[in-house]
Amino acid sequence: MRRPVIAGNWKMYKNPGEAAGFLHDLATLVTESTHAEIVVCPPFIDVPAAVDAARDSNIEIGAQDLFWLKEGAYTGEVSAPMLVAAGCRWVIVGHSERRHYFGETDESVFKKAAAALEAGLTPIVCVGERLEEREAGLTENVLATQCAGGICGLTPEQFARVVIAYEPVWAIGTGRTATPEMAGQAHHFLREQIRSRFGNEHADACRILYGGSVKPDNVKSLMAQPDLDGALVGGASLDPASFAAIVNF
Ligand code: PGA
Repeated sequence: MRRPVIAGNWKMYKNPGEAAGFLHDLATLVTESTHAEIVVCPPFIDVPAAVDAARDSNIEIGAQDLFWLKEGAYTGEVSAPMLVAAGCRWVIVGHSERRHYFGETDESVFKKAAAALEAGLTPIVCVGERLEEREAGLTENVLATQCAGGICGLTPEQFARVVIAYEPVWAIGTGRTATPEMAGQAHHFLREQIRSRFGNEHADACRILYGGSVKPDNVKSLMAQPDLDGALVGGASLDPASFAAIVNF
């Protein structure tokens, strides 16, 4: 059995005070929710306040990005050991907004995932096609390329701790969700990619999350897909009641 992961990606929203208030509110709404791992990924600057506010709860804190080196003259960057020291357990890697606005490539995704694993963080590695790629029938090619470049170079031992998020770019922040069947097909394809690289045991154990306009009213039908093991939630993770409703799908 794969334990679901419901992760919130706040993107560039909320300050430290707002993060603390949110986590206190969310904690009271999910005290009984032991069926899933619950993760909130605020902006870097909010991490200490979020870790503090989530301390006695079943909510874990993640970051939205990291740099692959441990320290050095890299103005503006944050390393995996720094995130661990601040109390993070998770980190999102290769989100489509990082790829498209900040030039991240499959190669940087690979280095970041490996650095996260080395420090003991669980990376949530994001993959997904753009609208023009889906319309051109290239979804599977894109997913295969992103897996090959971003994940397949890991060792099986490293891969065992990776969580994957399938996020079709055209569904992010647009209100346009993939149908459960579309998501299910992509998840199945990704699991078969993993199977051919890492074998049955790793393929059957790997959690693959769906992301892209997940809301309280569509999460249940998405989660009914056999290869879908949780959600990476943007907009609907900014409100404690709506995020709790998704956690408690
Ligand atoms: P969304 O974002 O839920 O607002 O579509 C998802 C994501 O970018 O992770």
